[in-house]
Amino acid sequence: MNLSAKLTHPIFELVSKIAAEQKIETYVIGGFVRDLILNRASKDIDIMTVGSGVELAETVGKMIGNHTKVTIFKNFGTAMLHYQDFEIEFVGARKESYLENSRKPQVENGTLEDDQNRRDFTINAMAISLNKATFGELIDPFDGMEDLRDMMIRTPLDPDITFSDDPLRMFRAVRFAAQLYFDIEPETFEAIQRNLHRIEILSEERIAEELNKIILSPKPSYGLKLLDVSGLLELVLPEITNLKGIEKIGKDAHKDNFLHTLEVLDNIAQISDNLWLRWAALLHDIAKPQTKRYDPKIGWTFHGHEFIGAKMVPKIFARLRLPMNEKMRYVEKLVELHLRPIALVEDIVTDSAVRRLLFEAGDDIDDLMLLCKADITSKNREKVTRYKNNFALVEKKLVELEEKDRIRNFKLPITGEDIMEMFNLAPSRMVGDIKDAVKEAILEGTIPNEHEAAKQLAIETYRKLQ
Ligand code: CTP
Repeated sequence: MNLSAKLTHPIFELVSKIAAEQKIETYVIGGFVRDLILNRASKDIDIMTVGSGVELAETVGKMIGNHTKVTIFKNFGTAMLHYQDFEIEFVGARKESYLENSRKPQVENGTLEDDQNRRDFTINAMAISLNKATFGELIDPFDGMEDLRDMMIRTPLDPDITFSDDPLRMFRAVRFAAQLYFDIEPETFEAIQRNLHRIEILSEERIAEELNKIILSPKPSYGLKLLDVSGLLELVLPEITNLKGIEKIGKDAHKDNFLHTLEVLDNIAQISDNLWLRWAALLHDIAKPQTKRYDPKIGWTFHGHEFIGAKMVPKIFARLRLPMNEKMRYVEKLVELHLRPIALVEDIVTDSAVRRLLFEAGDDIDDLMLLCKADITSKNREKVTRYKNNFALVEKKLVELEEKDRIRNFKLPITGEDIMEMFNLAPSRMVGDIKDAVKEAILEGTIPNEHEAAKQLAIETYRKLQ
């Protein structure tokens, strides 16, 4: 097969010309080739040469001119440059052998064939020739084309070797399956089950990177189910596998919270690409197992699971080396508040309850509403319709109240400093009490969110507290 018509980026002609002059073999290889055939847009090109990738990159950089910056990664013997909106990486063909206890391979120079042999999957091992005589020819020793047609993830060599060499590939297998909606070929899948223990040598960061990609895939439940069945999920996110199962007492059964969680995550995935909102969906019911109780009068309850769940978020983020910053706090907050909008829906919607929710959720109120809507997964249609209608009511109220009272980024119309000055007070408990009274009155709607009204109430409160 000749794919030269698809090699439209000018880098290919340029590299081909240099390769001919210097009499070296060069190829484009890996993910770019896979995506080219699948017609998926890709901005990363890997050029492989049988020789020095760094030298080739430097020559290419000079030919492009315009002070093209070539970044050299000494430890890896690779180099990278940006050209016309693409990131182009240059690497010498390698033959690798791995040590038992490290992901870092011992690298030797190799041939094209050696290099293809050491790659993770057949669909990632295809190369296209940039050599003059064969420009555009596909070199596909493991029939990656057939696997692309069959939508199959398969290792080029014995999967036990490929996975043992680099156990991250077990997560990558699931990740590519999730992103492309492919199957994992049975022998490859069984090898994951056999080599689970090898993930010990992986850093949490690399695992989290793959988890994030799975969570960001179009239908994340698919990847998570593959992680689950393979045994990987229990090793990296046991809190999620703990959600599995149904318990029944008499006629009362609670839903399977693992499947429910996956459904909520898929619902969110249909409406948002926000990774952290997706994490919130994955973790929203995380504390259900520890809070589960059975009450013969009302059935199964999970009281307080939102608070305990929120407390678990920082621990999970720290363990997986996910960012411990405002992203984590956002997930924590959404988990903690995830029942609040639905509680409003079930109750008579009072302005003060909506105001309080707006105050607590702040700018994340819209995402919280999305999460809460995604959380409605009942099989009972009538119940779902009723919830959704009431939801519309809450949403309308949220907009009205926000317009009127601007609670979202609520700042008290008088500050502690104002209060101290008004009553000639030193910093003290009383200042806090007056402030709280003003805040409560605004959230309750007994005074408007305005300076003059706040000042009056502060005076009244001060008198009362005297
Ligand atoms: N590769 C590998 N084993 C790994 C990582 C990468 O064999 N653990 C090889 C594969 O041939 C892969 C190529 O290196 O195609 C580039 O890796 P990477 O950029 O991580 O993945 P892509 O396939 O390019 O896919 P994406 O850009 O979507 O991550």
